[in-house]
Amino acid sequence: AGMHPLVPYLLGHKHPEGTRLTDVQKCVRTGDIDEVGDDSHLTFFEMLGHWSLGDYFKEDAIRWSFEFLTSADCLGIPVEKLAVSVFAGDETAPRDEESARIWEECGIPRDKIFFLPRKNNWWGPAGLTGPCGPDTEMFIDTGKPKCGPYCRPGCHCGKYVEIWNDVFMQYNKNEEGKFVPLGRHNVDTGMGVERTICMMSGAPTVYDTEIFAPIMQAIDDLAHVPAGMDPAEVLKARRVIADHMRTATFILCDPKGGVKPGNVGANYVLRRLIRRAVRFARMIGIAPGFTLKLAEVVCRKYKHVYPELEANLATCKLDLEAEEARFNRTLDKGEARYNKVVGALKEHGQTRISGKLAFELYDTFGFPFEMTCEMAAKDGLTVDKAGFDEANRKHQELSRTTSAGSFKAGLQDNSAVVTRMHTATPKS
Ligand code: ALA
Repeated sequence: AGMHPLVPYLLGHKHPEGTRLTDVQKCVRTGDIDEVGDDSHLTFFEMLGHWSLGDYFKEDAIRWSFEFLTSADCLGIPVEKLAVSVFAGDETAPRDEESARIWEECGIPRDKIFFLPRKNNWWGPAGLTGPCGPDTEMFIDTGKPKCGPYCRPGCHCGKYVEIWNDVFMQYNKNEEGKFVPLGRHNVDTGMGVERTICMMSGAPTVYDTEIFAPIMQAIDDLAHVPAGMDPAEVLKARRVIADHMRTATFILCDPKGGVKPGNVGANYVLRRLIRRAVRFARMIGIAPGFTLKLAEVVCRKYKHVYPELEANLATCKLDLEAEEARFNRTLDKGEARYNKVVGALKEHGQTRISGKLAFELYDTFGFPFEMTCEMAAKDGLTVDKAGFDEANRKHQELSRTTSAGSFKAGLQDNSAVVTRMHTATPKS
């Protein structure tokens, strides 16, 4: 999503619709998957964008952003609720004083303009090379107290919620890793619909917006929360299930299709989402067969905008049903194994799950590594990540050697080897 489909045009190819575009993109991003369950992080979001392909640049983009955010006939957000960040500069590109000046001229006070490093305020390239540049991000100050003296936009405590990002693509990262001027100025902006609706409606979290209301309601109807369960855990589980099932439904119903639960690449992203949802559903007493019910709810909510959801719902449900059943079977076996080993560890006063066991749970029982960590944390245990990585590495090496041997004489009927190769690939 984002800039990926636009790269040729950012580089100068003529776009058939001109040099100024607007769009809405369906985006799946799982980089922050561990944060899902807080008030604002999601693995799927709709992104509103506008693009300048060698047309307008910082001056216009920032002034228009300010106008759209604050003017009464647009979003009407009070200026005092806004904070922005701009690129602090480093050895490869200068501090973005120009953006800061424009924001200040618009009416954002200096103490609400934060200069942040590359990890916060630089976007792209989409691969190893290509167009990229500094960005300026726009945040709503929720009014929550600062979490500490260094609390500022980019902090994950929830005080500042990012809703929009204007990227100024003025560099090209070349094969030597150098940032050279692109020779043209592009703008790529992205505003998150869910967060913006949340902020506009005054809902305390994205899960309290009308977008999520029916999904959360369906989860509540299905849940039989065990007595005594920590309410914070219940809330997190409900949110993770809602988020992951919405994402999984959109992926499975995508008109371009092709992503199915599996062990490699995008397929593994999907598998991981479904499996996390299944695991959290088990925690709050949701009976098997829930994934397709939630896909129906997601479809009902969105089909008037995304007709592909309805068109592809039947196959989506079949895929969900199969993956859910498959995972429930392995979970049953894996949980029995986990409980046995953890019981023994506890008896011996040990607090660390070995990398070898974590890998066995992953490889034999399909437990994503992070899931073992989550279960361990609940049991007051830690997991040996380095040991897990080492076991995984050795396993992959072995698979490569074995498969190279198997295929030497041409493709044979050796499904065991093929299966093994595939199970060796995923990373959590
Ligand atoms: N396209 C940019 C993004 O993905 C704005 O955030």
